[in-house]
Amino acid sequence: MKHTLCAIIFLIALCSVSECVQRQYHFINEKKTWTEAQRYCRENYTDLATVDNRNDMNELNKSVNDGSVKFVWIGLQKTGRDEWQWSSGEPALYLNWETGQPEGRDDCAVMLNGEWHDFPCFNTRNFICNNTNTGLIFVNQTMNWRDAQSYCRQNHIDLVSVRNQNENQQVEKIISDRHLTEQKHVWIGLFRVRDSWQWSDQSDSSFRYWKYGEPNNFGKGEDCTAVNQTAQGQWHDVSCYNQFPFVCHEDKLILITKNLTWSEALRYCRQNHVDLVSVHSEEIQRRVMNVVKLASTAEVWLGLHNYCIMNMWLWVSGEIVCYQNWAPGNGTTPENCSLEKRKGAVQSGGDQHWISLPETDKLNFICSRN
Ligand SMILES: *[C@@H]1O[C@H](CO)[C@@H](O)[C@H](O)[C@H]1NC(C)=O
Ligand SMILES: *[C@@H]1O[C@H](CO)[C@@H](O)[C@H](O)[C@H]1NC(C)=O
Ligand SMILES: *[C@@H]1O[C@H](CO)[C@@H](O)[C@H](O)[C@H]1NC(C)=O
Ligand SMILES: *[C@@H]1O[C@H](CO)[C@@H](O)[C@H](O)[C@H]1NC(C)=O
Ligand SMILES: *[C@@H]1O[C@H](CO)[C@@H](O)[C@H](O)[C@H]1NC(C)=O
Ligand SMILES: *[C@@H]1O[C@H](CO)[C@@H](O)[C@H](O)[C@H]1NC(C)=O
Repeated sequence: MKHTLCAIIFLIALCSVSECVQRQYHFINEKKTWTEAQRYCRENYTDLATVDNRNDMNELNKSVNDGSVKFVWIGLQKTGRDEWQWSSGEPALYLNWETGQPEGRDDCAVMLNGEWHDFPCFNTRNFICNNTNTGLIFVNQTMNWRDAQSYCRQNHIDLVSVRNQNENQQVEKIISDRHLTEQKHVWIGLFRVRDSWQWSDQSDSSFRYWKYGEPNNFGKGEDCTAVNQTAQGQWHDVSCYNQFPFVCHEDKLILITKNLTWSEALRYCRQNHVDLVSVHSEEIQRRVMNVVKLASTAEVWLGLHNYCIMNMWLWVSGEIVCYQNWAPGNGTTPENCSLEKRKGAVQSGGDQHWISLPETDKLNFICSRN
């Protein structure tokens, strides 16, 4: 019966597209540098635009309503210059490049006479693996860097990390003991992470829409992203000091970092925004998961309340709960109606499931807004 009800309500609730869109783009036709644009968006909306998929990209392009505009900023920025990392996942804190290295062309690293060089990853070289039992192992086979990495991961632990001078000497000795006469460059586990781009709002969207050949860092220091309006909205990396119009986005959800009981939270949202959030779909849950990252409480109130006599959970918007994301044991067990009233919250960390809590708990909460 509950499932039929869900199906009927689903049909009724099929929202018009504009209601379903959880993020709205706003085109600002004023020329600013990327950082100025970011500040403007954070003050007036949510942030410089984030793009999750092609659909967002179409919406964003539609928002640019001035045909003479060639480039607009979006919120994607390069975060590090040389993000070298160890194959084991550790950040590279100790570095022992030879003077003049890395040259910047290549993404893998070799050791030569104890010092490091960036080197084309497709070259085949000997390499050194780390093994839990036997320690470091020189592999007397030549492979490209990726294959060497796979080989070490299959047969040992990983390609070697060189994290201090002591380890550097160890590795240097293992190589010099071999008396290599040719191909003296030997792979170590260091490689460069290229896509070190981050969204201004810290979203983890991995969607990219680079124009062919971009990002190319052509003029050096091209650390910000602009949309080329004459190339179907494809992206270029450009210097952040350019002055372009820009696109902000406004999330329909807003995290309030005050600690209030559920009823206080409901009142706050209705007075200042629209309502406590109702999470009807996985899409909205995804947005919720994005905004709760910044919460200061372990759980965050949702517009979810228990209609106790019928043992039914409802959204404050009136719908019954069809899409479900309860933590195990929550949301299903019958409640004792003479005990504390319970409401629904989402965990701000971990699996970000929903749990039921006494309504007097004081938590952060999420409002929806127009
Ligand atoms: C080798 O692997 C072990 C086990 O994971 C680790 O503790 C050690 O630090 C590694 N040593 C090097 C030089 O990578
Ligand atoms: C690698 O192995 C070959 C034969 O298996 C041997 O002749 C050669 O000396 C070895 N090279 C190193 C550097 O150990
Ligand atoms: C933008 O894209 C168009 C069409 O591909 C291209 O002709 C133009 O050179 C691009 N603009 C810049 C500054 O690269
Ligand atoms: C809300 O509660 C959390 C956890 O108890 C606390 O860390 C935070 O400072 C509180 N925030 C406010 C605004 O009181
Ligand atoms: C609800 O979920 C939380 C987190 O997983 C758990 O600690 C709690 O025991 C669950 N409640 C019930 C009634 O099972
Ligand atoms: C509900 O809780 C009240 C108060 O603790 C208790 O008197 C009552 O027996 C409980 N009812 C059920 C059905 O467990």
